[in-house]
Amino acid sequence: MNAPATLPRHVAIIMDGNGRWAERRHRPRSMGHRAGQKAVRASVRACRERGIAVLTLFAFSSENWRRPQEEVGALMELFLHALDSEVEELHGNSVRLRFIGALEAFAPSLRERMLAAMRRTADNTALALNVAVNYGGRWDIAQAARTLALEAVRGDLDPVDIDEHRLAAQLCLADLPPPDLLIRTGGEHRISNFLLWQLAYAELYFTDTLWPDFDAHALDAALDAYSHRERRFGRTGTQLRARA
Ligand code: FPP
Repeated sequence: MNAPATLPRHVAIIMDGNGRWAERRHRPRSMGHRAGQKAVRASVRACRERGIAVLTLFAFSSENWRRPQEEVGALMELFLHALDSEVEELHGNSVRLRFIGALEAFAPSLRERMLAAMRRTADNTALALNVAVNYGGRWDIAQAARTLALEAVRGDLDPVDIDEHRLAAQLCLADLPPPDLLIRTGGEHRISNFLLWQLAYAELYFTDTLWPDFDAHALDAALDAYSHRERRFGRTGTQLRARA
């Protein structure tokens, strides 16, 4: 495989289309989520093989609790099962697993397994894999603001010193480079309250491919599109070419 000229350091993915994938096969939506787990595995492997440093997956949004109870239950079962079945392999491949989101909403047994998986893989270096669960971009910004407010109340922070840098430092994934590329599968063109702040300068890539069908080939198509984008960060194209 020819590596694209410019590889993103951080790829974020909104994995959409599991339900439709199953419905097209006249199967329950939960089967689509199980097929989605295979696509997660394939994407993790492909990112690692291509030397991408960070992969962040949107697995369960703050709004997904509104789904039918049966589907939420099936997703929780799947997460539990995935934690039991995947963590050792991730660890063996030096993947560092981190869950971001309001984890306190999950059942203690599930939360404990998430924390244990994070501890187990904390020193791994091949790929940082972040899984967003009960995550919302607005929640993230609000929790960062709350942290700063508490510091100010304690007298450890002067509110006039609050700026973008200080707020960003309290957000999830503050220790990692921000996403360079956001991929959304499933044909919708929206961000759906994913990493609102962190995506400020990400290149957006939308594909009609449903998540269970997303494989290494589909990832390469996204990486190829990314390699042709001109990332200007507010500068002009002429300025960028003069700096090159
Ligand atoms: C979106 O498809 C997908 C989800 C809400 C769940 C994502 C979960 C997985 C990919 C399962 C495995 C994940 C891990 C991390 C082990 P949708 O249900 O919204 O599809 P639709 O738009 O076709 O209805």
